[in-house]
Amino acid sequence: MTGSDVRAPSIHTLAVRGGMSPGSHNGSISVPIYQTATFQRSVVLEETWDYSRIANPTRSALEECLTALEGAADAVATASGMAATTLAVWSTCRSGSHVVLADNVYGGTWDLFREVMPAWGIDVSVVDLRDLDAVRAAIGPRTSLVWVESPSNPLLKVADIAAVSAAAHSAGALVAVDSTLATPVLQQPITLGADLVVHSTTKYLGGHSDVTGGVLLSANDELAQRVRKVSGITGSIGAPFDSWLVLRGIRTLPTRMAQICTSAAAVAKYLQSHPRVSAVHYPGLAGHPDHAVAAKQMTGFGGVISFEYDGTMDQAARLCARTHVFTLAVSLGGVESLIQHPAQMTHCTTGGTQVAVPPGLIRLSIGLESPDDLIADLDQALAG
Ligand SMILES: Cc1ncc(COP(=O)(O)O)c(C=O)c1O
Repeated sequence: MTGSDVRAPSIHTLAVRGGMSPGSHNGSISVPIYQTATFQRSVVLEETWDYSRIANPTRSALEECLTALEGAADAVATASGMAATTLAVWSTCRSGSHVVLADNVYGGTWDLFREVMPAWGIDVSVVDLRDLDAVRAAIGPRTSLVWVESPSNPLLKVADIAAVSAAAHSAGALVAVDSTLATPVLQQPITLGADLVVHSTTKYLGGHSDVTGGVLLSANDELAQRVRKVSGITGSIGAPFDSWLVLRGIRTLPTRMAQICTSAAAVAKYLQSHPRVSAVHYPGLAGHPDHAVAAKQMTGFGGVISFEYDGTMDQAARLCARTHVFTLAVSLGGVESLIQHPAQMTHCTTGGTQVAVPPGLIRLSIGLESPDDLIADLDQALAG
């Protein structure tokens, strides 16, 4: 074999094989769940597994897989997506730091920056990251971090990650991207210039709505060392069984995402044609304001769609309770389709703030049911 014959494995292969070490774990094809807090040594100072808060073989297998999928230097798996977000802030900010925050983010992220971080002397400026002049104007000498969520939850705004990263880096700030809605299959922020990537693995990576988890990925060794140190000290880590569930979910991630993207495109097209729907937010639609940026930096447009119902907030909420195939529940990214009303559910704390969501907005997470059944379900709910 010559050097030119060696090709990088595709994302499908990395998803199935990542974190598997042939010949180890007694030949187990599935990485075992190392349900242990500590590890025996034969001498006091031994280079081996030490203590599960610092490293655990099941969690390490998941981290190895995620590192490969994102093209990162390292990954730290955490107990939730919010734990990964918090770890990112602890690892990059200090008292007096300023953060430029996207104007549409998951409600919990907003809560973190509004309710928790100010007490530690960390403040934010909220900016529409699609306006690069506004991004440049918001970054000042105290800015440690630009927090990107793309596509954003629930308005599906898409930031140009390469352009935002260039603007941040020229001013000495780091960039973290919450890429939960995209997954590493559809978008790899580190290859676009980001320094840190966050996923709520509760969502597509786990994929079955049966685990809560997160991951923080670092683009280079210096950041990786800092993140790992802070994670070890603060105990911001994922449990062995949870790590195993996420790793199992990742094995089918590319296949699930392919079907989910196809179904979501069909549902978005249907909604666009409905007379009671005044707006559809889905970056795969040619008319979406960020379609060109999404097409440039993503290989698919994902499974989250939001739409604005032409009615009152109460009517929108009642519509969510009329579906039979879609389940009324928060979260997203599982095999089952979910519907929810962000203004009263995931984003209930954003009302009256700079990151408020429209009152008639409804968010869908498209799963693996037949798209025809999903469309028929929405049709009867919208007619109701
Ligand atoms: C985009 C995004 N980021 C982060 C989170 C937080 O994840 P977790 O619930 O796993 O803490 C969520 C949860 O819905 C989310 O949608």
